[in-house]
Amino acid sequence: MHILITGGTGFIGQALVPHLLQAGHRISILSRSRHRDTAQCTFLRSLEELSPDSAPDAVINLAGASLAGKRWTRAYKEELVASRVQGTRALVTYFAESAEPPRVLLSASAIGYYGPRGDDALTEEAAPGSGFSSELCQAWEQEAARAAEAGIRTCLLRLGVVLDRQGGALKEMALPFRFGVASWPGSGHQYLSWIHRQDVVAAMEFLLAEDTLAGPFNLTAPGPVTQREFCHAMRKHFRTLPGMPVPSPVMRLLLGEMAGELLLSGQRVLPAGLRRAGFEYRYPGIDDTLAAIFGTQAGDRLP
Ligand SMILES: NC(=O)c1ccc[n+]([C@@H]2O[C@H](COP(=O)([O-])OP(=O)(O)OC[C@H]3O[C@@H](n4cnc5c(N)ncnc54)[C@H](OP(=O)(O)O)[C@@H]3O)[C@@H](O)[C@H]2O)c1
Repeated sequence: MHILITGGTGFIGQALVPHLLQAGHRISILSRSRHRDTAQCTFLRSLEELSPDSAPDAVINLAGASLAGKRWTRAYKEELVASRVQGTRALVTYFAESAEPPRVLLSASAIGYYGPRGDDALTEEAAPGSGFSSELCQAWEQEAARAAEAGIRTCLLRLGVVLDRQGGALKEMALPFRFGVASWPGSGHQYLSWIHRQDVVAAMEFLLAEDTLAGPFNLTAPGPVTQREFCHAMRKHFRTLPGMPVPSPVMRLLLGEMAGELLLSGQRVLPAGLRRAGFEYRYPGIDDTLAAIFGTQAGDRLP
């Protein structure tokens, strides 16, 4: 299959692209920067560079400025929106009008769609929430859903916090633990809905292959944990002092609005759609996931 990936140079793409190449697919990556092509992987700066005789069979839309990358100033919020909403609009318009549209579009979204929801168990049927990240995800999904109206099978990927060793959120989350400080944000009772990056890749491959699947899918592990439970699980792999909270006002002072939406509140998201479709997780639980990522067994602590 020829698969076009936007934002394929990012944290998820860095695991997805080698996996899809290994599986024998041909990849084109739409990127803002220049890269060297290989025999099986071509880089594009714009969709117009796609050659007419090699329309992609599938499109995976991952592009977007990093949500946790910077303080959410007004200008950065505009960039967060433009990179997703305008970017997805341009992508969908191009393919909806194309003579040979792709068979399937997988378009990233995030569990931020559900907004802050306490302990509610959230499947794909749950209503959207409120706040900047929820509104962003709703607008992003609406643009992607226009592909479904144009007859393209469309899956909306509501991604949880993607964990792996080389990058992503865990790089930042592990930093205090590496210095012997175990902590959780605020009360620690808020839920963290996470997923191993390898399960993200496997779920994307599954959704590409299953022709009957469309609509929103929560890409989260079946075992979300509270921030305190996550801290406890991390402490099995690092020599730290006993865990302690970072008070909410300190988090807000350090990170601004982003702290409130991404860290001090949470969502308990369940992957009902993937489970119903028969997707098998390689890493369903946090302990095995962290053991695989850090290459250590619980109790066999990293210095
Ligand atoms: N990782 C997670 O935990 C997580 C959780 C929920 C949702 N998601 C969503 O899933 C998607 C992929 O995640 P990821 O972790 O791989 O993201 P990432 O590492 O931040 O990379 C996404 C890619 O988007 C492109 N990009 C960055 N800034 C951009 C901008 N201002 N305008 C247009 N493109 C821009 C970059 O590609 P080029 O530089 O090559 O153009 C970058 O490699 C993102 O949309 C993200 O919001 C991720």
